[in-house]
Amino acid sequence: MAEAVATTNTQEWYYPSEEIVKNAYIPDYDAVYKKAQQDPEAFWAEQAEKLHWFRKWDKVLDSSNAPFYKWFVGGKTNIAYNALDRHVKTAHKNKLALIWEGENGDQHTYSYYRLTQEVNKFANVLKSMGVQKGDRVTIYMGRVPELVIAMLACAKIGAVHSVVYGGFSEQSLADRIEDAQSRVLVTQDGAWLRGQIVELKKIADAAVRRSPVVEHVVVFKRTGHAVEMEPDRDYWWHDLMALPIASTKCEAEVMDAEDPLFILYTSGTTGKPKGILHTHGGYQVYTSTTLQWVFDLKEEDRWWCAADPGWITGHSYIVYAPLILGVTSFMYEGAPTHPYPNRWWKLVEYYGITVMYTAPTAIRGLMRFGAAWPNRHDLSSLRLLGSVGEPINPEAWKWYYEVIGKGRCPIMDTWWQTETGGFMITPLPVTPLKPGSATKPFPGIEVDVVDEDGHPVPPGQDGLLVIKKPWPGMLRTVYGDPERYKNQYWSKFPGMYLAGDSARKDEDGYIWVIGRVDDVIKVSGYRLGTAEVESGLVSHPAVAEAAAIGLPDELKGNIIYAYCLLRQGYEGSPQLEEQLKDHVRHEIGPIAVPAKIEFVKQLPKTRSGKIMRRVLKARALGQPEGDISTLEE
Ligand code: PRX
Repeated sequence: MAEAVATTNTQEWYYPSEEIVKNAYIPDYDAVYKKAQQDPEAFWAEQAEKLHWFRKWDKVLDSSNAPFYKWFVGGKTNIAYNALDRHVKTAHKNKLALIWEGENGDQHTYSYYRLTQEVNKFANVLKSMGVQKGDRVTIYMGRVPELVIAMLACAKIGAVHSVVYGGFSEQSLADRIEDAQSRVLVTQDGAWLRGQIVELKKIADAAVRRSPVVEHVVVFKRTGHAVEMEPDRDYWWHDLMALPIASTKCEAEVMDAEDPLFILYTSGTTGKPKGILHTHGGYQVYTSTTLQWVFDLKEEDRWWCAADPGWITGHSYIVYAPLILGVTSFMYEGAPTHPYPNRWWKLVEYYGITVMYTAPTAIRGLMRFGAAWPNRHDLSSLRLLGSVGEPINPEAWKWYYEVIGKGRCPIMDTWWQTETGGFMITPLPVTPLKPGSATKPFPGIEVDVVDEDGHPVPPGQDGLLVIKKPWPGMLRTVYGDPERYKNQYWSKFPGMYLAGDSARKDEDGYIWVIGRVDDVIKVSGYRLGTAEVESGLVSHPAVAEAAAIGLPDELKGNIIYAYCLLRQGYEGSPQLEEQLKDHVRHEIGPIAVPAKIEFVKQLPKTRSGKIMRRVLKARALGQPEGDISTLEE
């Protein structure tokens, strides 16, 4: 079922300029793809050789316990060493690693040297709190450099970070702390967004009350507004960083290639979030190779991935891959429209951004304000553009291409997931483009579109997107739930990874991703489970049962539409609708708030009691209800 903005096949081709082709890191996609296909292990080993290993691996891939694949078996490494220490030994020491601008105009820059020192200091702070290799640390922050520092500090000492996006509220944060059993939480007083303060510390306090496993809370001061600090539990970041314990020296922990690096929770089909687990070895190889080849990053580039570090896009392409490649990365704290809708374009001009990577929802959002805003700025520094998170509708693609890229900058529409670690289906700069298609698989990746029996479908037909071989950046498991990992991704078609998306391949072998086939809704590119929204609703005393569906929306891709069956004694009213929305905002977060809540007397269910969301959706869209033979009514 198409979930997001419909994409349509188009025969319009867009070709890269001679300049782009001349500078391409991979000038001949077909040749490299074929080489990787012939011997994937040799191919990945060749990429891995580019990084530092304390001890080289004995075996590239171990499939003996599939689907629990292992990469670079026996190899010893540390991703933070590759991202920082390695560069400090070269002229990169003096190069800018990170340029940051706050929403209020604050500016900070970090050379590789400075960043390494800050990371080492915070690593020592964590150690002093008793954090050891393998311990989980939850990080709940806004888009500030200290978030990057905290992540890298964990990696450096072998602790496992679990970053929770700042747009989640107390119950979501508490669930994630609880699942990871984090004894340390890193947060900040507040984050700036649209000129307002997001009360991160207050939410963190409420979450810790629900999940008392946390022993220490480190609070970075960003907004400076008054927050409560609990004695013997809460410490200011700047106080800790000023202690003698916060030395600038910290050796990287020698990690096994398969040791966990981070957990990142993402929505699935049940109310319980899945902790996607990534490791040091394969992830560093996969993210750095994909970034270098897809965005052709060079020494002189200024790369801007406008995602939030709290999502996989930020983990892979703000934090780890750019630093491993020794690139200069730009990060902006706030909203694209603050104080005016030209903020992003002003930043591109001011900082001379050369490659920019964002999401279709952001493009559509800015498109609404018209071309006059970007046209006020000199965007000639841009060389390449990127898109991620949901299908990009051709209209937004063309606006991005013409108005932002001035027809010079190819758009890399990258399809991937939290689970995949990095880009999977994506153009390279030399790839001829069709607006709306993510084009072809990255070298070393084999994908297909199959029917319910796992057989490839003919070109032009919708089917399920699968990945036919393991790859180094793949998730290793669902944290604490290996069965779920096996069932969710590898059981429908043995030997093939089920992505959960529907797609079609066209006559040219180009892949068109249509959207999710499960109960996952993409709202403004954010991934939410219907079950999460529903459990948020039923936790309100008025609600007996709830069902949530995604409906197409021009701006957000999808919006959440919810149906609520009330308990006896409650009447549906606009006031109650507002109360319920507030409740969801408070419990789960603003991103999960339904656009509309409808009060109903009955929900369509199967005889076994499962809500038929498919039927609700068809009704809402005025479409045929399909097979309703299992409907109870
Ligand atoms: O449905 C696909 C959509 O986003 C899902 C993965 O979401 P998440 O794990 O949050 O990761 C998003 C950032 C990598 C996919 O299953 N998706 C992601 N990129 C694209 C996309 N759909 C179409 N085109 C894309 N480029």
